[in-house]
Amino acid sequence: MNPSRSVLAPGEFASGAAAWIAEAINHAVAATGRCALGLAGGSTPQPVYRALAREPYHQAVPWDRVQVYFGDERAVPPDSPDSNFGAARESLLSHLPIPAERIFRMEAERADREVAAMEYGRLLPPRLDVLILGMGPDGHTASLFPGSPALDERERRVVAVIAPKPPPARLTITPPVIAAAVRTVVLVTGADKAATVARVLRGPPAPKELPVQLAREGAWILDPAAGAALSG
Ligand code: 6PG
Repeated sequence: MNPSRSVLAPGEFASGAAAWIAEAINHAVAATGRCALGLAGGSTPQPVYRALAREPYHQAVPWDRVQVYFGDERAVPPDSPDSNFGAARESLLSHLPIPAERIFRMEAERADREVAAMEYGRLLPPRLDVLILGMGPDGHTASLFPGSPALDERERRVVAVIAPKPPPARLTITPPVIAAAVRTVVLVTGADKAATVARVLRGPPAPKELPVQLAREGAWILDPAAGAALSG
């Protein structure tokens, strides 16, 4: 898919992003009979997930063909308010007819996160069909933060990291997983991210400093505040 940039009015952000995701899922199902979907954490995707759980997307997507994975997870139990899985369960997954055995949560709270990372790396499919990502004001995505050694990873697909953003202990997908994804969408809202969006999309490639540049060729869906420094 060619890189695309969309700036959607605040009232249209959730439904516009949900429409993009639903279409991408349907494309994968039409092509292969199923869809491996990678979910982002953080607050930005939650309204999008709630829109996906409502009509028209609830009916428009064959959710029983979807397998759900996560791009990162914090080392907290699934019922913690900090759990990416817990948030997605509340906003999206509990409303959809996806069999529980097709929802693969990252068990980042396990005592041995290295083993948890290795096991999750094995159960990820070779390519995610649809990968949803967010972006932090520092340019991080998933739990790939600027300067992290995880950005040099070329073999392991999931690693344990200590993030500068609380809660610090996390699991994250690595650059090869982002590179392999068939369709990627980056969801960004808010004026505090506008300058970074412009550096990421307009500046020279520097993914060690701006990890979300790993998804620069994906679709980007922004609200006007996040896209403000792109115009002109
Ligand atoms: C996480 C994320 C992370 C997130 C960004 C944006 O678990 O922290 O997956 O990469 O997408 O930090 O977070 P907000 O949407 O909350 O700004």
